[in-house]
Amino acid sequence: MVNKSQLNLLLELAKECSECAKKYFYSENSNQFSLKEDNSPLTKADLEVSKMAVNGLKKIFPNDTIVSEETYSNKFKPLNKRFWLIDPIDGTKEFINGNINFTINFALIFLNKSMFGLIVQPCTDTVWYSFNNKSWKIENSYNFLDSSEIKTSTFSPKNIKLIASKNHSDSELEHWINIIEPKSKVNIGSSLKFCIIAEGKADIYPRNNPTMEWDTAAGHSILKCAGGNIFTKNGLELHYGKFNLKNSAFIAINQYKSFIPKTIFLGNDFFDLQLYNNKINKAVNSLKDSKLVCFPTETVYGLGAKGDSIKAINSVYEAKKRPKNNPLIAHVQNAKKAKDLAEFTDLANKLAAEFWPGPLTIVLQIKKKQLSNILSQGRSTLGIRVPSHPVALDLIERLDVPILAPSANKSGGVSPTSAKHVLNDFKNLKNKSWEISEILDYGNCEIGIESTVIDCRGDLPIILREGYITSELIEDKLKIKPINLQKNNELLSPGMLSKHYAPKTKVLINQKDYIKGSGLLAFGVVPKNFSKAINKFNLSPTENFLQAAELLYEGLRYLDSLNLKFIQVMPIKNVGLGTAINDRLTRASNNE
Ligand code: TXA
Ligand code: MG
Repeated sequence: MVNKSQLNLLLELAKECSECAKKYFYSENSNQFSLKEDNSPLTKADLEVSKMAVNGLKKIFPNDTIVSEETYSNKFKPLNKRFWLIDPIDGTKEFINGNINFTINFALIFLNKSMFGLIVQPCTDTVWYSFNNKSWKIENSYNFLDSSEIKTSTFSPKNIKLIASKNHSDSELEHWINIIEPKSKVNIGSSLKFCIIAEGKADIYPRNNPTMEWDTAAGHSILKCAGGNIFTKNGLELHYGKFNLKNSAFIAINQYKSFIPKTIFLGNDFFDLQLYNNKINKAVNSLKDSKLVCFPTETVYGLGAKGDSIKAINSVYEAKKRPKNNPLIAHVQNAKKAKDLAEFTDLANKLAAEFWPGPLTIVLQIKKKQLSNILSQGRSTLGIRVPSHPVALDLIERLDVPILAPSANKSGGVSPTSAKHVLNDFKNLKNKSWEISEILDYGNCEIGIESTVIDCRGDLPIILREGYITSELIEDKLKIKPINLQKNNELLSPGMLSKHYAPKTKVLINQKDYIKGSGLLAFGVVPKNFSKAINKFNLSPTENFLQAAELLYEGLRYLDSLNLKFIQVMPIKNVGLGTAINDRLTRASNNE
């Protein structure tokens, strides 16, 4: 990503930018500013440091795209897999008020993840950066040789040191903070919060108000390489290159994957922990009674059945009208539980360590155990996944039996990404032989398409269903190239029917000309040929795959509700997450 000589050049650049910022900070006019369109303040230092940082980076990385807070336009398409994000002065308010807690931030994004971060606090001449999967700090110099390693502390729920933003608080966040009862709380502006956690001096930083990607990206990489991470409400690692470069609520925490659902979660229901507990316990009891429960995951809503109950398993098939030859995924709370059920290969261990909890389903040989046999319904293989959504994890943990859960839609139809979608598909929540007794509504699913399903029985990963975890991502992390199964291999994945994910209205893909009476599922700028299309749903005006995946099923469902002649879909590039989107659309458009 960044080699040692480039790092040295970056440290030189950081020093130059730092001197420039200090020159303005200690000048007479340091408190002068104008207002940007969004009413945030802009100083001369913002503009000058931005120019210096962009030009300096261009020299070190001539082929990279560089985005600075001050040069960003909302037309920016993060199509490049690799780009830089710069925040020339993070904490402009601090700067104006004469407070030294402002920083300069450089981050490198690759495949939607923050891969490198460097933060400078000019007034103290301190640098924090990530390099070779570790994090480092340099005090009073910009010399690589003066670096010392930093690490996060261990999370302990009874002794939480909390750090919060200085200028952004809200009643929801305050309430949540009261619930988790931190031992101490400090407020500080700018990205220094991430550095402080990375150094082990604080444990968590919860944030409810939106931030921009350049506010978090550099700190994110530094925190991650020091042992922590940043999670969204869906329990996913915060990702970058979103359509408007805007982050949703998050929690930065000192321990990677130490996500504790009951306490580490921001959400409306958590105003009232008792209400939440009641709801979840009721759902657990329903599952124990072999009834079905709909629950959110980071991908789509699932229709859950207690995995050791043959009655519950049968009702899933009946409720969905799902062919019996299509196996269900077992959802478990961690890799250890998964290992009780199936024979883990080296490959499975590597993939699980990298991508669990998260949107990945691993197919393995079952262990000869009664529970594995029931879960796999007599098959020799089982698909297993550890979801990241805190509510899903909490439900599984409290039940303490794997939950078998397909997407909560009728078989062959469009998956649900909200509780409203589930209610639409199941107008009757019960029948003679089955009952959906609870729908746990926790908002929209962040990813929007189902997990990637990978056969891990051999040495090479075989992708049975594409998803958010793309081949590129696996190749980058594991240095192995996955095999991509041709779409219709019914032998390996019996459930991968060629027609699937389909609305009632006929779907036509790769459309270039408008057909009268049809609706348009657009992607990018709508060309003139479609100017007559009245019913439109744009998956992403800026061709952003993350946005398109999130909105895909919402868009298909919306157009399907209008009783149109066809749903015409504009071409979508078949790279990265685009291949998963195209896979679903191809299946939606198939006739049989
Ligand atoms: O994101 C997801 O995976 C969602 C959420 C709820 O977790 N679940 C989901 O389940 O999409 P479902 O049942 O709609 O799709 C499961 C897919 C099917 O294509 C099925 O054939 C495949 O996974 N699958 C499950 N077990 C398998 C196995 N043992 N061998 C091969 N394919 C399997
Ligand atoms: Mg499904």
